[in-house]
Amino acid sequence: MVKLIVAKASNDVIGKDNDLIWHLPADMRFFTQTTKGHIVVMGRRNWDSIPLKYRPLSDRINVVITRNDAFHDPGCSVFHSIEEAIAFYKTDDTRDIFIIGGGQIYTHAIKHNLVDEMFVTHIDQAFEGDTWFPAIDETVWQKEPVMSHPKDEKNAYSFTVFKYALKTKK
Ligand SMILES: NC(=O)c1ccc[n+]([C@@H]2O[C@H](COP(=O)([O-])OP(=O)(O)OC[C@H]3O[C@@H](n4cnc5c(N)ncnc54)[C@H](OP(=O)(O)O)[C@@H]3O)[C@@H](O)[C@H]2O)c1
Repeated sequence: MVKLIVAKASNDVIGKDNDLIWHLPADMRFFTQTTKGHIVVMGRRNWDSIPLKYRPLSDRINVVITRNDAFHDPGCSVFHSIEEAIAFYKTDDTRDIFIIGGGQIYTHAIKHNLVDEMFVTHIDQAFEGDTWFPAIDETVWQKEPVMSHPKDEKNAYSFTVFKYALKTKK
């Protein structure tokens, strides 16, 4: 199954200056627990943005998408299109494929109907940024809440995670 996971601000912003904007450890924990043991597919810019001490993301198969034939890194597998990466890993029945961004990769995956299910963290705050998550078409996707977290001393903003499933199966 191809899943997507993202955290977005109330104005759909997801990043700025090739970095995350907010620090929400509770949401990061949800991301880690949800993706552990699976395959994470990301754009080359997202890969570059992950601090070296966390890269590759542990206990996951890290897959990087780039148009650059010269790109190699011992920490990841490299593909030159998302479709190729999905076709390669779809034969693995034991793991899900998670599209983990950033903006270009999310937009391509949704526009080309590559995704079966999404976990979207809605942060109750708008931010300035330079990268956005595409609008979610609610005639296509049905959402249900998975968990909510209040603002607290470690998490500066409250948020709710929603699971989106396709209304009509592919
Ligand atoms: N809030 C969240 O949940 C979340 C999650 C992930 C990332 N982010 C944020 O998103 C931002 C990064 O997103 P971004 O849109 O700038 O970059 P991105 O999607 O991470 O990566 C873009 C790169 O991927 C490659 N690429 C894109 N489309 C391709 C295609 N169709 N075929 C082959 N390769 C392709 C290209 O690499 P080459 O240039 O090497 O060819 C392109 O430069 C950062 O601010 C990051 O912090 C936020």
